[in-house]
Amino acid sequence: MGISEANTAGNVHGGTIMKLCDQVAGIAAIRHCSSRVVTAAMDRMTFRHPVFVGDLVTVRASVNAAWRTSVEVGVRVEKENVWTRETAHTSTVYLTLVALDEAGKPAAVPPLHSESEDEERRAHEAQLRRDNRLAERAEITARREGRTA
Ligand SMILES: CC(C)(COP(=O)(O)OP(=O)(O)OC[C@H]1O[C@@H](n2cnc3c(N)ncnc32)[C@H](O)[C@@H]1OP(=O)(O)O)[C@@H](O)C(=O)NCCC(=O)NCCS
Repeated sequence: MGISEANTAGNVHGGTIMKLCDQVAGIAAIRHCSSRVVTAAMDRMTFRHPVFVGDLVTVRASVNAAWRTSVEVGVRVEKENVWTRETAHTSTVYLTLVALDEAGKPAAVPPLHSESEDEERRAHEAQLRRDNRLAERAEITARREGRTA
């Protein structure tokens, strides 16, 4: 991380890390969908440890689940102090990306086949998060319209 990404105290901006997550999630989604994708949502993101100028940041993404036109991508961020080799897990975030056809409309995505217990766990947890997202959205919409979900 360079000085242009940080505040005057040397802490890297959260937005810089979020942008990296969005970009890496986009690449993972494009690889799965073989099409254009857009980010529909980024779940609440927390920052567990500060990232400083000079730290090496590694961002890894995996497609956790695929539905009709969207996929959930999980992103893990780690930092390393390259002098001491000390590492820390700084963030995990989940993004929903939607595949688009040539007209810019949501397009069907290929199914995701879990091949290991770990992949099955990720897919199961992704489904729970999706159910919660949709339920939260439905409840908020219903409350705003003065009815209960
Ligand atoms: C994402 C977008 C294409 C969805 O369009 P839409 O008209 O709501 O389309 P649909 O209702 O058919 O939904 C398409 C998929 O998006 C998902 N989706 C839409 N809004 C969502 C949200 N807020 N959170 C999670 N998923 C969402 C739907 O669940 C659906 O997934 P599924 O087909 O797998 O069930 C549209 O809202 C958009 O273009 N947003 C801007 C994206 C963008 O520019 N991102 C970059 C950041 S600025």
